[in-house]
Amino acid sequence: MPLLSLRGMTKRFGGLPAVDAVDLDVEHQGIVALIGPNGAGKSTLLSLVSGGQRPTHSRSLTLDGRSLLGLAPNRIRRAGIGTVTQTPSRFASLTVREEVAIGARFGTAPRPTMAGALQEADEAVEFVGLAARARDPVSTLTLHEARLLGLARALAGRPQLLLADEVMAGLTTGELDQAIALFRRLRDEKQIAVLWVEHVMSAVEALADRVVVMDVGRIIADGPANEVRRDPSVVTAYLGVPAGGGGDALGS
Ligand SMILES: Nc1ncnc2c1ncn2[C@@H]1O[C@H](COP(=O)(O)OP(=O)(O)OP(=O)(O)O)[C@@H](O)[C@H]1O
Ligand SMILES: [Mg+2]
Repeated sequence: MPLLSLRGMTKRFGGLPAVDAVDLDVEHQGIVALIGPNGAGKSTLLSLVSGGQRPTHSRSLTLDGRSLLGLAPNRIRRAGIGTVTQTPSRFASLTVREEVAIGARFGTAPRPTMAGALQEADEAVEFVGLAARARDPVSTLTLHEARLLGLARALAGRPQLLLADEVMAGLTTGELDQAIALFRRLRDEKQIAVLWVEHVMSAVEALADRVVVMDVGRIIADGPANEVRRDPSVVTAYLGVPAGGGGDALGS
């Protein structure tokens, strides 16, 4: 049984489908990159999974066989789905470990005590490499550190699946390598699966074991990066013209 499974997921805005009858599975410990042109529906699809948006229609949405349809975002988080956003919100007056402790308190059951939450926070902060910053105010973090904070906060909630939206944008090469290594460790050491939207193709190629391509609300390709990038429909979606011979959609 896949970890995450969705069938017939549809979201319309004013009659126009942003996500159009999408079926998608994510395996346990899978790292799945979701790519596609601007406006393809990637972020909307993630927010349908996290409960941020309600589908217009859906046949099913399950995590480990358990239905998540209609659950509020906090219930979905408790069911085992953590979310990392591109610009993590920060509660300015808190320290790094306190903010991550909030993630532990609102994660999957059993709900830890405050002391337990701080202990889990310290572990998550250490895991992402922010230990030296644990007692600093979150307002002093750089962009890269703030992303790591967002990851630690999600991690402290003990997710089985992480959803991430363009969390590698704007990083330096060194930071990007660090982020890629960290995601691998999430899978290998924490057994976490990742469904992640990304435009940074070098990261997609380095990290994803599967690449799912969306265009105008639909999945148009699904497979290893080296197959998907040569798929004529993917080339057309990215370049806006029918594929000539030997095209490479992802330009790397
Ligand atoms: N709240 C909303 N209200 C109306 N239309 C929306 C809303 N959110 C998204 N859309 C529309 O749905 C479509 C898909 O948007 P979405 O943000 O999911 O795309 P995306 O693939 O994440 O694009 P990008 O790569 O630019 O982030 C777009 O046409 C967008 O304008
Ligand atoms: Mg988006």
